[in-house]
Amino acid sequence: MRIDIITVLPELLESPFSHSMMKRAKDRGLLEIVTHNLRDYTPYKQGQVDDYQFGGGAGMVMMPEPLAILIDKLQAERNYNEVIYMTPDGTLFDQKTANGLSLKENLIIICGHYKGIDDRIRQHYVTREISIGDYVLSGGELAAAVVVDAVGRLLPGVLNDETSALFDSFQDGLLAPPVYTRPADFRGWAVPDVLLCGDPKKIDAWRYEQSLQRTKQRRPGLLNDE
Ligand code: ADE
Repeated sequence: MRIDIITVLPELLESPFSHSMMKRAKDRGLLEIVTHNLRDYTPYKQGQVDDYQFGGGAGMVMMPEPLAILIDKLQAERNYNEVIYMTPDGTLFDQKTANGLSLKENLIIICGHYKGIDDRIRQHYVTREISIGDYVLSGGELAAAVVVDAVGRLLPGVLNDETSALFDSFQDGLLAPPVYTRPADFRGWAVPDVLLCGDPKKIDAWRYEQSLQRTKQRRPGLLNDE
């Protein structure tokens, strides 16, 4: 899978993809992440990519030309399945969306700044608008990093234990059960006996029950598919 990220702050996206699973995904040739500095594509002087908004009001808007020039160039080079715009007024990102995106071949992600991008780009180029939560970040980069991470780890061959993504929270609509490691007794706090019993059926049943309880207590809406 290839993901092209359009940003005015490429430095912000260096670290999130240089460690752990994203590094592994890249090293194994399963994920290619290419960041593009939008300022390199502006026809305006001094790398200008934003301007005052028509109609007045505080805050700058990202101009359409640099975005269109760069997206046209990319789309001439290969077919993209989606042009995604990270924005707080987009559709809320969830595991289902991550699963769907992990099946795509080429994605473009646009990171907004200031008041956002000129709406004509949203109307004529963007195919999907994603929010990572009901709060406003200072730019789309951190949100894009969240999406790339959630999608990248699902690519076959990225996780060491191929099956483990199947047991993530949300994959079956339930939160994950509690987990424990050594020591079996820590400060007198013992690991539940069932996890030490060696009977996989009993352990699975216990984990499922715990998942159900956690989901009921913490996120009951998930059980009603809200
Ligand atoms: N850009 C700014 N805030 C955002 C959010 N919550 N989700 C996605 N992109 C954003």
